[in-house]
Amino acid sequence: TKIGFIGTGKIGQTIAFNTLMGGYVDEAVLYDIIPDLPEKFEHELRHALASRRLKTEVLGTNSLDDVTSCDVVVVTAGKPRKPGMDRRDLFVENAKIIASLAKELPKRNDAIYVMVSNPVDMMASIFMKVSGKYTISTGDQVETMRMRSFIAKKLKVPVNYVNGYVGGEHGDDAVILWSTVTVKDQLVGDKVDKEEVERYVKSIPGDIIKAMGGTTWGPGTIIEEIIRSIVLNENKVMSIAFPHYFEDEIVHISEPVVVGRKIGPSLESLLDEKDRWHLISATKDFYSFYKESLNRIQILA
Ligand code: NAD
Ligand code: MLT
Repeated sequence: TKIGFIGTGKIGQTIAFNTLMGGYVDEAVLYDIIPDLPEKFEHELRHALASRRLKTEVLGTNSLDDVTSCDVVVVTAGKPRKPGMDRRDLFVENAKIIASLAKELPKRNDAIYVMVSNPVDMMASIFMKVSGKYTISTGDQVETMRMRSFIAKKLKVPVNYVNGYVGGEHGDDAVILWSTVTVKDQLVGDKVDKEEVERYVKSIPGDIIKAMGGTTWGPGTIIEEIIRSIVLNENKVMSIAFPHYFEDEIVHISEPVVVGRKIGPSLESLLDEKDRWHLISATKDFYSFYKESLNRIQILA
Protein backbone atom coordinates (compact mmCIF):
# COMPACT_ATOMS: atom_id res chain seq x y z
CA THR A 1 0.00 0.00 0.00
CA LYS A 2 1.22 3.47 -0.89
CA ILE A 3 -0.11 6.60 0.80
CA GLY A 4 0.32 10.23 -0.26
CA PHE A 5 0.27 12.99 2.35
CA ILE A 6 -0.45 16.36 0.74
CA GLY A 7 0.54 19.03 3.25
CA THR A 8 3.11 18.41 5.96
CA GLY A 9 2.12 21.07 8.46
CA LYS A 10 0.90 20.35 11.98
CA ILE A 11 -1.95 17.94 11.27
CA GLY A 12 -0.31 16.43 8.17
CA GLN A 13 2.75 15.49 10.23
CA THR A 14 0.69 14.00 13.05
CA ILE A 15 -1.43 11.88 10.69
CA ALA A 16 1.59 10.71 8.68
CA PHE A 17 3.53 9.81 11.84
CA ASN A 18 0.64 7.83 13.34
CA THR A 19 -0.06 6.08 10.05
CA LEU A 20 3.54 5.06 9.41
CA MET A 21 3.98 3.83 12.97
CA GLY A 22 1.02 1.49 12.33
CA GLY A 23 3.38 -0.65 10.25
CA TYR A 24 0.87 -1.43 7.47
CA VAL A 25 2.17 0.99 4.81
CA ASP A 26 4.75 -0.11 2.21
CA GLU A 27 5.44 3.33 0.79
CA ALA A 28 4.62 6.94 1.67
CA VAL A 29 5.17 10.20 -0.14
CA LEU A 30 5.08 13.53 1.70
CA TYR A 31 4.41 16.69 -0.31
CA ASP A 32 4.35 20.35 0.70
CA ILE A 33 5.13 23.65 -1.01
CA ILE A 34 7.49 24.85 1.74
CA PRO A 35 11.06 24.19 0.59
CA ASP A 36 12.94 21.57 2.61
CA LEU A 37 10.02 20.87 4.99
CA PRO A 38 8.84 17.52 3.56
CA GLU A 39 12.41 16.46 2.95
CA LYS A 40 13.47 17.00 6.56
CA PHE A 41 10.23 15.46 7.80
CA GLU A 42 11.16 12.42 5.70
CA HIS A 43 14.36 12.14 7.75
CA GLU A 44 12.45 12.39 11.04
CA LEU A 45 10.13 9.60 9.94
CA ARG A 46 13.03 7.45 8.74
CA HIS A 47 14.59 7.74 12.20
CA ALA A 48 11.31 6.79 13.87
CA LEU A 49 10.84 3.86 11.46
CA ALA A 50 14.39 2.66 12.20
CA SER A 51 13.60 2.64 15.91
CA ARG A 52 10.48 0.56 15.30
CA ARG A 53 12.34 -1.65 12.80
CA LEU A 54 9.76 -0.87 10.10
CA LYS A 55 10.81 -0.95 6.47
CA THR A 56 8.30 1.54 5.01
CA GLU A 57 9.84 3.56 2.17
CA VAL A 58 9.37 7.34 2.58
CA LEU A 59 9.98 10.26 0.23
CA GLY A 60 9.61 13.94 1.12
CA THR A 61 9.23 16.25 -1.88
CA ASN A 62 8.25 19.66 -3.22
CA SER A 63 7.30 18.16 -6.58
CA LEU A 64 3.79 16.89 -7.28
CA ASP A 65 5.35 14.73 -10.00
CA ASP A 66 6.70 12.51 -7.21
CA VAL A 67 3.20 11.87 -5.89
CA THR A 68 2.30 8.89 -8.06
CA SER A 69 0.52 5.53 -7.82
CA CYS A 70 -0.88 6.11 -4.33
CA ASP A 71 -3.77 3.95 -3.11
CA VAL A 72 -4.88 6.58 -0.61
CA VAL A 73 -4.16 10.33 -0.72
CA VAL A 74 -4.68 12.37 2.45
CA VAL A 75 -5.06 16.12 1.89
CA THR A 76 -4.20 18.52 4.74
CA ALA A 77 -2.91 21.38 2.57
CA GLY A 78 -4.26 24.82 3.34
CA LYS A 79 -4.76 27.42 6.01
CA PRO A 80 -5.94 26.57 9.52
CA ARG A 81 -8.32 28.90 11.37
CA LYS A 82 -7.07 31.31 13.99
CA PRO A 83 -8.83 31.77 17.35
CA GLY A 84 -12.19 33.45 16.83
CA MET A 85 -12.55 32.30 13.22
CA ASP A 86 -15.14 29.86 11.91
CA ARG A 87 -13.95 26.97 9.74
CA ARG A 88 -16.21 28.22 6.94
CA ASP A 89 -14.21 31.49 6.91
CA LEU A 90 -11.42 29.44 5.27
CA PHE A 91 -13.63 28.45 2.33
CA VAL A 92 -12.38 30.88 -0.32
CA GLU A 93 -8.69 30.60 0.42
CA ASN A 94 -8.60 26.81 0.81
CA ALA A 95 -10.99 26.07 -2.05
CA LYS A 96 -8.46 27.51 -4.50
CA ILE A 97 -5.72 25.24 -3.16
CA ILE A 98 -8.01 22.18 -3.12
CA ALA A 99 -9.33 22.82 -6.64
CA SER A 100 -5.82 23.10 -8.05
CA LEU A 101 -4.77 19.86 -6.31
CA ALA A 102 -7.94 18.21 -7.63
CA LYS A 103 -6.81 19.00 -11.15
CA GLU A 104 -3.29 17.62 -10.64
CA LEU A 105 -3.41 14.63 -8.28
CA PRO A 106 -5.80 12.32 -10.20
CA LYS A 107 -3.52 12.45 -13.25
CA ARG A 108 -0.96 10.55 -11.20
CA ASN A 109 -2.99 8.63 -8.62
CA ASP A 110 -6.00 6.36 -8.95
CA ALA A 111 -6.63 6.65 -5.23
CA ILE A 112 -9.30 7.10 -2.58
CA TYR A 113 -9.00 10.75 -1.56
CA VAL A 114 -9.34 11.63 2.13
CA MET A 115 -9.94 15.32 2.82
CA VAL A 116 -8.80 16.92 6.09
CA SER A 117 -8.39 20.62 5.15
CA ASN A 118 -11.19 22.87 6.42
CA PRO A 119 -14.03 23.46 5.97
CA VAL A 120 -13.42 19.78 5.48
CA ASP A 121 -16.75 18.52 4.15
CA MET A 122 -17.03 21.33 1.61
CA MET A 123 -13.41 20.85 0.54
CA ALA A 124 -14.19 17.16 -0.07
CA SER A 125 -17.18 18.17 -2.21
CA ILE A 126 -15.01 20.58 -4.21
CA PHE A 127 -12.27 18.00 -4.66
CA MET A 128 -14.78 15.48 -5.97
CA LYS A 129 -16.56 18.03 -8.16
CA VAL A 130 -13.32 19.14 -9.83
CA SER A 131 -11.55 15.77 -10.04
CA GLY A 132 -14.50 13.43 -10.51
CA LYS A 133 -12.72 11.07 -8.08
CA TYR A 134 -14.30 9.42 -5.06
CA THR A 135 -13.53 11.61 -2.07
CA ILE A 136 -14.40 11.33 1.59
CA SER A 137 -14.04 13.83 4.40
CA THR A 138 -12.91 12.87 7.89
CA GLY A 139 -16.08 14.68 8.93
CA ASP A 140 -17.54 14.08 12.36
CA GLN A 141 -15.49 11.10 13.45
CA VAL A 142 -13.45 13.69 15.34
CA GLU A 143 -16.58 15.04 17.08
CA THR A 144 -17.68 11.47 17.73
CA MET A 145 -14.55 10.79 19.80
CA ARG A 146 -14.78 14.17 21.53
CA MET A 147 -18.36 13.36 22.52
CA ARG A 148 -17.50 9.87 23.79
CA SER A 149 -14.52 11.10 25.80
CA PHE A 150 -16.55 13.87 27.45
CA ILE A 151 -19.44 11.57 28.41
CA ALA A 152 -16.99 8.99 29.83
CA LYS A 153 -15.32 11.67 31.95
CA LYS A 154 -18.64 13.11 33.16
CA LEU A 155 -20.12 9.74 34.08
CA LYS A 156 -16.79 8.43 35.39
CA VAL A 157 -16.94 5.30 33.23
CA PRO A 158 -14.23 3.81 30.99
CA VAL A 159 -14.44 5.37 27.53
CA ASN A 160 -14.94 1.99 25.86
CA TYR A 161 -18.34 1.74 27.63
CA VAL A 162 -19.54 4.74 25.60
CA ASN A 163 -20.79 4.39 22.05
CA GLY A 164 -22.61 6.54 19.55
CA TYR A 165 -22.00 9.06 16.82
CA VAL A 166 -22.04 12.73 15.87
CA GLY A 167 -23.20 13.58 12.35
CA GLY A 168 -23.98 16.43 9.96
CA GLU A 169 -21.26 18.93 9.08
CA HIS A 170 -17.91 18.97 10.88
CA GLY A 171 -17.88 22.05 13.09
CA ASP A 172 -20.52 24.29 14.58
CA ASP A 173 -23.38 22.59 12.72
CA ALA A 174 -22.50 19.08 13.89
CA VAL A 175 -25.37 17.20 15.54
CA ILE A 176 -25.11 14.61 18.25
CA LEU A 177 -27.12 11.62 17.07
CA TRP A 178 -28.63 10.93 20.48
CA SER A 179 -30.54 7.87 19.28
CA THR A 180 -27.13 6.16 18.86
CA VAL A 181 -25.50 7.25 22.13
CA THR A 182 -25.24 4.46 24.70
CA VAL A 183 -23.37 3.77 27.91
CA LYS A 184 -22.90 0.07 28.67
CA ASP A 185 -25.30 -0.63 25.80
CA GLN A 186 -28.13 1.45 27.37
CA LEU A 187 -29.32 4.65 25.71
CA VAL A 188 -27.74 7.52 27.60
CA GLY A 189 -31.13 9.27 28.03
CA ASP A 190 -30.94 12.03 30.63
CA LYS A 191 -27.91 10.61 32.43
CA VAL A 192 -25.99 13.51 30.86
CA ASP A 193 -26.76 17.19 30.32
CA LYS A 194 -27.13 17.10 26.53
CA GLU A 195 -26.54 20.80 26.05
CA GLU A 196 -23.32 20.58 28.04
CA VAL A 197 -22.08 17.69 25.88
CA GLU A 198 -22.91 19.63 22.73
CA ARG A 199 -21.21 22.77 24.02
CA TYR A 200 -18.05 20.82 24.81
CA VAL A 201 -17.90 19.09 21.43
CA LYS A 202 -18.23 22.42 19.59
CA SER A 203 -16.03 24.61 21.78
CA ILE A 204 -13.10 22.35 22.67
CA PRO A 205 -11.27 22.56 19.30
CA GLY A 206 -11.29 26.37 19.44
CA ASP A 207 -9.98 26.27 23.02
CA ILE A 208 -7.21 23.87 21.98
CA ILE A 209 -6.27 26.11 19.04
CA LYS A 210 -6.05 29.09 21.40
CA ALA A 211 -3.81 27.29 23.89
CA MET A 212 -1.78 24.96 21.63
CA GLY A 213 -1.82 26.64 18.20
CA GLY A 214 -3.81 23.85 16.54
CA THR A 215 -5.48 20.50 17.10
CA THR A 216 -3.15 17.62 16.32
CA TRP A 217 -3.03 14.58 18.64
CA GLY A 218 -6.80 13.97 18.76
CA PRO A 219 -7.60 14.30 15.02
CA GLY A 220 -4.17 12.88 14.13
CA THR A 221 -5.04 9.62 15.89
CA ILE A 222 -8.70 9.51 14.85
CA ILE A 223 -7.87 10.15 11.19
CA GLU A 224 -5.20 7.43 11.24
CA GLU A 225 -7.94 5.04 12.34
CA ILE A 226 -10.01 6.02 9.30
CA ILE A 227 -7.01 5.44 7.00
CA ARG A 228 -6.30 2.07 8.65
CA SER A 229 -9.90 0.95 8.27
CA ILE A 230 -9.70 1.72 4.54
CA VAL A 231 -6.26 0.22 3.89
CA LEU A 232 -6.82 -2.94 5.94
CA ASN A 233 -10.47 -3.17 4.88
CA GLU A 234 -11.50 -3.33 8.54
CA ASN A 235 -15.09 -2.25 7.81
CA LYS A 236 -15.41 -0.29 11.05
CA VAL A 237 -18.48 1.90 11.54
CA MET A 238 -17.35 5.52 11.67
CA SER A 239 -19.06 8.87 11.25
CA ILE A 240 -17.23 10.19 8.22
CA ALA A 241 -18.65 12.38 5.45
CA PHE A 242 -19.18 10.63 2.13
CA PRO A 243 -20.86 11.86 -1.07
CA HIS A 244 -24.61 12.46 -0.96
CA TYR A 245 -26.51 13.65 -4.01
CA PHE A 246 -28.58 16.71 -3.09
CA GLU A 247 -30.32 18.99 -5.62
CA ASP A 248 -27.69 19.54 -8.33
CA GLU A 249 -24.58 18.99 -6.21
CA ILE A 250 -22.63 16.33 -4.37
CA VAL A 251 -22.47 17.26 -0.70
CA HIS A 252 -20.47 15.60 2.05
CA ILE A 253 -22.39 14.96 5.26
CA SER A 254 -21.37 12.65 8.09
CA GLU A 255 -23.42 9.76 9.34
CA PRO A 256 -22.35 6.38 10.69
CA VAL A 257 -21.17 4.29 7.76
CA VAL A 258 -19.07 1.18 7.17
CA VAL A 259 -15.51 2.20 6.29
CA GLY A 260 -13.34 -0.21 4.33
CA ARG A 261 -11.86 -0.35 0.84
CA LYS A 262 -15.44 0.53 -0.07
CA ILE A 263 -17.44 3.12 1.91
CA GLY A 264 -20.91 1.92 2.89
CA PRO A 265 -23.52 0.88 3.65
CA SER A 266 -24.70 3.73 5.83
CA LEU A 267 -26.46 3.05 9.12
CA GLU A 268 -28.79 6.01 8.65
CA SER A 269 -31.89 3.82 8.72
CA LEU A 270 -31.12 2.94 12.34
CA LEU A 271 -31.44 6.57 13.48
CA ASP A 272 -34.65 7.88 14.99
CA GLU A 273 -36.77 10.45 13.19
CA LYS A 274 -35.40 13.40 15.14
CA ASP A 275 -31.78 12.56 14.32
CA ARG A 276 -32.66 12.02 10.68
CA TRP A 277 -34.42 15.38 10.59
CA HIS A 278 -31.26 17.03 11.98
CA LEU A 279 -29.18 15.42 9.23
CA ILE A 280 -31.54 16.68 6.52
CA SER A 281 -31.46 20.14 7.98
CA ALA A 282 -27.61 20.04 8.14
CA THR A 283 -27.59 18.96 4.48
CA LYS A 284 -29.80 21.89 3.43
CA ASP A 285 -27.69 24.36 5.39
CA PHE A 286 -24.49 22.93 3.89
CA TYR A 287 -25.95 23.17 0.39
CA SER A 288 -27.02 26.80 0.65
CA PHE A 289 -23.65 28.02 2.00
CA TYR A 290 -21.72 25.80 -0.44
CA LYS A 291 -23.68 26.89 -3.48
CA GLU A 292 -23.38 30.57 -2.66
CA SER A 293 -19.63 30.20 -1.96
CA LEU A 294 -19.03 28.31 -5.21
CA ASN A 295 -20.56 31.23 -7.10
CA ARG A 296 -18.25 33.58 -5.26
CA ILE A 297 -15.09 31.80 -6.35
CA GLN A 298 -16.23 30.46 -9.73
CA ILE A 299 -14.46 27.22 -8.91
CA LEU A 300 -14.70 25.67 -12.34
CA ALA A 301 -13.57 28.77 -14.23
P1 NAD B 1 -0.45 24.22 8.97
O1 NAD B 1 -0.39 25.64 8.58
O2 NAD B 1 0.42 23.74 10.10
O3 NAD B 1 -0.13 23.30 7.72
C1 NAD B 1 -0.70 23.48 6.47
C2 NAD B 1 0.32 23.08 5.44
O4 NAD B 1 -0.29 23.12 4.15
C3 NAD B 1 1.54 24.01 5.40
O5 NAD B 1 2.72 23.28 5.60
C4 NAD B 1 1.47 24.61 4.00
O6 NAD B 1 2.73 24.89 3.42
C5 NAD B 1 0.75 23.51 3.25
N1 NAD B 1 0.21 23.93 1.96
C6 NAD B 1 -0.41 25.09 1.63
N2 NAD B 1 -0.74 25.09 0.31
C7 NAD B 1 -0.33 23.89 -0.19
C8 NAD B 1 -0.39 23.26 -1.46
N3 NAD B 1 -0.93 23.88 -2.51
N4 NAD B 1 0.13 22.03 -1.59
C9 NAD B 1 0.68 21.39 -0.54
N5 NAD B 1 0.78 21.91 0.69
C10 NAD B 1 0.27 23.15 0.87
O7 NAD B 1 -1.98 23.89 9.29
P2 NAD B 1 -2.55 22.59 10.02
O8 NAD B 1 -2.78 22.89 11.44
O9 NAD B 1 -1.73 21.42 9.63
O10 NAD B 1 -3.98 22.51 9.32
C11 NAD B 1 -4.11 22.21 7.94
C12 NAD B 1 -5.58 22.14 7.55
O11 NAD B 1 -6.19 21.04 8.21
C13 NAD B 1 -6.40 23.37 7.99
O12 NAD B 1 -7.35 23.69 7.03
C14 NAD B 1 -7.04 22.92 9.28
O13 NAD B 1 -8.20 23.63 9.60
C15 NAD B 1 -7.34 21.48 8.95
N6 NAD B 1 -7.53 20.59 10.09
C16 NAD B 1 -8.59 19.75 10.00
C17 NAD B 1 -8.84 18.85 11.02
C18 NAD B 1 -10.01 17.94 10.89
O14 NAD B 1 -10.41 17.31 11.86
N7 NAD B 1 -10.61 17.82 9.72
C19 NAD B 1 -8.00 18.81 12.13
C20 NAD B 1 -6.93 19.69 12.19
C21 NAD B 1 -6.69 20.57 11.14
C1 MLT C 1 -10.80 20.32 14.53
O1 MLT C 1 -12.00 20.17 14.77
O2 MLT C 1 -9.92 19.94 15.32
C2 MLT C 1 -10.38 20.92 13.23
O3 MLT C 1 -11.47 21.15 12.41
C3 MLT C 1 -9.53 22.15 13.41
C4 MLT C 1 -10.36 23.34 13.82
O4 MLT C 1 -11.05 23.27 14.84
O5 MLT C 1 -10.30 24.37 13.13
